[in-house]
Amino acid sequence: MSYMAEETFRKGDIIALTVTDLAEKDQCFGRLDNGMAVMVGGMLAVGDRILARIKKVRPRYIEAITVEILEPSLDRTVPLCSWFGVCGGCKLMHIRYEAQLLYKHKKVKDALEHIGDFIAPPVTPVLAAMAPFHYRNKIEFSFSSMRYLLPEELSLEQLSRPKEFALGFHTPGNFEKVIDIDYCYLAKEAMNRVLALTREFAIANALAPYAVKAHTGFLRNLVVRFSENREEIMVNLVTSWHDEALMQRYNIHIESGMAGHKMTVVNNVTDRHNTVATGDSEFIISGEGYLTERLGGLDFRISANSFFQTNSSQAEILYHSIFKVAGLRPADTIYDLYCGTGTITLYLASYCRQVIGLEVVDSSINDARKNAELNGIGNAAFFKVDLKDFHAMLNTLENYDAPRVIITDPPRAGMHAKALSTMLRLRPERIVYVSCNPASLARDGKEITLHGYQLLSVQPVDMFPHTSHIESVACFERTALC
Ligand SMILES: C[S@@+](CC[C@H](N)C(=O)[O-])C[C@H]1O[C@@H](n2cnc3c(N)ncnc32)[C@H](O)[C@@H]1O
Repeated sequence: MSYMAEETFRKGDIIALTVTDLAEKDQCFGRLDNGMAVMVGGMLAVGDRILARIKKVRPRYIEAITVEILEPSLDRTVPLCSWFGVCGGCKLMHIRYEAQLLYKHKKVKDALEHIGDFIAPPVTPVLAAMAPFHYRNKIEFSFSSMRYLLPEELSLEQLSRPKEFALGFHTPGNFEKVIDIDYCYLAKEAMNRVLALTREFAIANALAPYAVKAHTGFLRNLVVRFSENREEIMVNLVTSWHDEALMQRYNIHIESGMAGHKMTVVNNVTDRHNTVATGDSEFIISGEGYLTERLGGLDFRISANSFFQTNSSQAEILYHSIFKVAGLRPADTIYDLYCGTGTITLYLASYCRQVIGLEVVDSSINDARKNAELNGIGNAAFFKVDLKDFHAMLNTLENYDAPRVIITDPPRAGMHAKALSTMLRLRPERIVYVSCNPASLARDGKEITLHGYQLLSVQPVDMFPHTSHIESVACFERTALC
């Protein structure tokens, strides 16, 4: 192999470089010894010295693909999962956990600087997860009639598993093909058992998995939730139609394989042309049809289609971080935008006079109201609203005091522009912005500061070890001038 020494590069040339940063979508940055920037594809770690083949020469940088790792980075570790590199979930499993935390800290800081134009944003070190494995309380598996074939299977004449059935995770960027997974290191052990039992039942009963393009097949998703505190399991089989007799047999199969666990089995049904793991109707096959989880001394009821933080022990740390910066006073009214099942709302309720949660999903709002009742909380009100129509709610909210503090916890895309402008019109003294996407936080944070707020602190919390996701709690305060 020849090394490039000159400054002229061509497609196909081999270059040597050191990886300096990780980017999205399996891309990394590096620099050649002459300073030229390189974007290189591959599951790499900062500090890896590699050889890469040039794919494209652009005016200001080179695109390349890894050919060989010459010297591995000291940040590397051996990934536990045999699907690492194929499954899109744990993209950082080859990196030591301490190094993952440094990378996530930099990711938040970089987004605030480059997208939000913040200068030296006050980002504190990431709060690490206590359990870096088996931490998820919810996993969504997909069925597919197109199993993703592993590279080593492509040349085999006979496959050990059928090509027409898969239960596991979608390959990144492909909504049709699914990797047939036996075990996930992020799932609780009980969830992995439900996965195995479901595969066994589906194959024994020759049940057809969903085919996206043809829009045929019965089995769509398997969603398993686990309540850490009570060790209860919810199994939600999402199917294209309801077959009561079959679901009863499925229930017996699962329950007999999961003896000793309190269970509920539900069947969500949808005929939609998509792979989203929710149904338009729900059938409770056994048990209560919901789970109860305990967080911060409160009980929360969670239905199959309700949002609930997927890492229960880290959720407590996240909520405590919100509490620490919210600076609540006993006379305060606070709003909790995108409140889900009301977890943050109810967590903060005892520290102020009135809490108001706003959320669009029916089942979440119902759960939030039931959760207030369940915990004997009388100063919480919940309203169903699509927050892009937040302004239309203001008349109703006039029955309450104006909010001194607003908590907002939007989905990955961030706040709808209209929701953001209505929130800013309310001029709360403090805004606590909880975000699972640093880029959205940076974009919305910039808008918030342009309206007379100062960014006081950003606390990243690692809710999802081994993935590239990071949650942050940012606190903005209205400046005296506004
Ligand atoms: C990141 S979750 C936050 C949930 C909650 N704060 C918690 O910690 O459990 C975002 C929530 O926003 C809700 N949501 C998404 N789009 C919305 C919209 N346009 N209007 C209101 N709520 C929305 C989702 O249903 C989800 O419950």
